[in-house]
Amino acid sequence: MHALDLYASIEEYLDFEDEVHHLYKIIGHTVLSKNPKTLIDIGCGQGEFCHIMDLNGIKTLGVDLSSKQIEIATAKGTNAKCIDIKDLKETFDCATATFDVINYLPKKDIKGFLQNCYDLVNDQGYFIFDINSLYGFDTVAQGTLNIDLEDKFIAIDANFKDNILYTDITLFIQKDKSNIYIKESGTIEQYCYANEELSDLLDSVGFEVEKIIDVNLHSDEEFDKYIFVCKKV
Ligand SMILES: C[S@@+](CC[C@H](N)C(=O)[O-])C[C@H]1O[C@@H](n2cnc3c(N)ncnc32)[C@H](O)[C@@H]1O
Repeated sequence: MHALDLYASIEEYLDFEDEVHHLYKIIGHTVLSKNPKTLIDIGCGQGEFCHIMDLNGIKTLGVDLSSKQIEIATAKGTNAKCIDIKDLKETFDCATATFDVINYLPKKDIKGFLQNCYDLVNDQGYFIFDINSLYGFDTVAQGTLNIDLEDKFIAIDANFKDNILYTDITLFIQKDKSNIYIKESGTIEQYCYANEELSDLLDSVGFEVEKIIDVNLHSDEEFDKYIFVCKKV
């Protein structure tokens, strides 16, 4: 199984709901203040943010590289496609990427990806996304977690090294209620970007960084995330 599909299979058991909804509240209010009619949610996952935007009268499209995420999102009624953003032809008043998506981009691909985001947005439109801070990676995200369920066992081990968070996921799924378990494993890599580095990249593809919002999702001590509000000028 592809590592992104493996993540999709375990996402519902991770218990991040409160944090994610807090994040959606801030990003959602920011999006609504810009009055977009159309929105693309890049790395839409299971479609929850699209759903909230739909309820607010915005016409949305969710896209994700994981076919498993898109399967779940479309089953819940989200207008979603499994497609690489470089292959999209439409443009939108607003693009979003919520809950770590930008951190999934390796250094060698990030500029091209941001260029593709720029091309997806209409003139005077917005690109709004969050990223994890160094504190978020180093202090909050690292660690191990085991989840023991009736028909599956999930083991997660996250280590932050040389500015990359390696999250090893192992999933055992019980076969036909027998004593046989099928093992799936994979590693997700997330890359840490400093705000200045990302601002320079956004500027180089044509976005103006209007605002960076500090966010405390998991801790009161230091900011674990930042939200970038970027305008296509
Ligand atoms: C942590 S999940 C967040 C999902 C969703 N945005 C949310 O708020 O729950 C990150 C998502 O980004 C997707 N993803 C990673 N790299 C991507 C890329 N280059 N293009 C589109 N989606 C990507 C993954 O498949 C995954 O669904």
